[in-house]
Amino acid sequence: MELAEYHSLTTLPTPAGPLWIKRGAPGLEDPAYRALADAVEPRGTRAIDLNPGVGVALLPLLAAGLEVHAWEDRRSALRALEASAAEHPGLRVRAALPWQVPQAAYGTALLVFGADRGNAWVRAQIRAAARALEPGGLLWVAGDKKLGFERYLGWAREIVGEGEVVLRAKGARVAVLERSSGPAPEAPEGPEPLEVELRGRRLTFWIWPGVFSADAVDPASRLLLEHLPADVEGARVLDLGAGYGALSLPLAREGAQVTLLEHQLASVESARVSFARAGLDALILHSDVDERLSEAENYDIVISNPPFHVGGRVVLDVAEAFVAAAHRRTRPGGRFYLVANPFLKYEDWMRDLFGNVQTLHAGRYKVLLSVKKA
Ligand SMILES: C[S@@+](CC[C@H](N)C(=O)[O-])C[C@H]1O[C@@H](n2cnc3c(N)ncnc32)[C@H](O)[C@@H]1O
Repeated sequence: MELAEYHSLTTLPTPAGPLWIKRGAPGLEDPAYRALADAVEPRGTRAIDLNPGVGVALLPLLAAGLEVHAWEDRRSALRALEASAAEHPGLRVRAALPWQVPQAAYGTALLVFGADRGNAWVRAQIRAAARALEPGGLLWVAGDKKLGFERYLGWAREIVGEGEVVLRAKGARVAVLERSSGPAPEAPEGPEPLEVELRGRRLTFWIWPGVFSADAVDPASRLLLEHLPADVEGARVLDLGAGYGALSLPLAREGAQVTLLEHQLASVESARVSFARAGLDALILHSDVDERLSEAENYDIVISNPPFHVGGRVVLDVAEAFVAAAHRRTRPGGRFYLVANPFLKYEDWMRDLFGNVQTLHAGRYKVLLSVKKA
């Protein structure tokens, strides 16, 4: 796949008007979104969608004339939503985190439980829904029965108010709950510290809910750090899919000039706080792969622990785009280091683009290196 193809947006006609989509953007293939779109009924004049993805579930609300606020933190989804907003005047797109919602501002809220981002994230989403809804407002939730739907519905009943399952479509479930008149949950006070030792130094990261490997640095990332050059002083390093900066903050501490590209705003904000409190400079961009870099930007070293999931077209597209972006962003003579689970065929993509690939480590994870021809 060409990188331009990954970055391009296309439009999908729907009965409620055009919906823009793009490769790698969540919320199109997940049946929970379709089930939520089938079940939802409008109430009030303003609605909030707390996990919209490309916006499948909010279309019926727009068609009913509501103003809908799409509250999204993933950059690929935001790119698609922003394109759709140009054609739907009622759609307002916010690059924002769940705990930033205004209080008692909406009559309807939608939430597909973000099970892929962990329990703390789902709890934060539910608390945000309780905060955003007026008393008596309705929260429509959706999820997969195999991905914790019943448990999350239990939390929603405790935090938001009473409600029942209203639709079962194969594995997908939809429930609707009424916001009680109880007090609004408080927003979290700030990110939590994570203290670790990396490359022989004690470091502290500051972590918001919903980020990759929130409780400990990922063992694959540790392995990659062990295989990077011992001397990175002055090197220009690009961290693709940087999370909270587990790979790049230790390198910045050693004198590298680091740029972080990351898709989730929760991770971007975690990295920003982590670098600032460590007194280190970095360019930290909320970016879908390399879309936020200008045409000519390239680096001495590109590093990545790409997103992984077993199966799924979306993730394969993203993984392939990561390798294509790494090739484009490595300067002639520069190096691209990657760590991955053994089952994905990164070697093939790297050999095709760089003309070479070495395996620096093979085991539970593999560490690969390609050098760009000078
Ligand atoms: C396996 S994690 C690694 C995170 C971090 N580098 C570390 O080592 O802890 C992959 C990261 O890629 C990010 N990601 C996923 N899709 C992306 C995209 N389209 N553009 C940029 N980053 C993306 C995820 O949000 C996640 O933080």
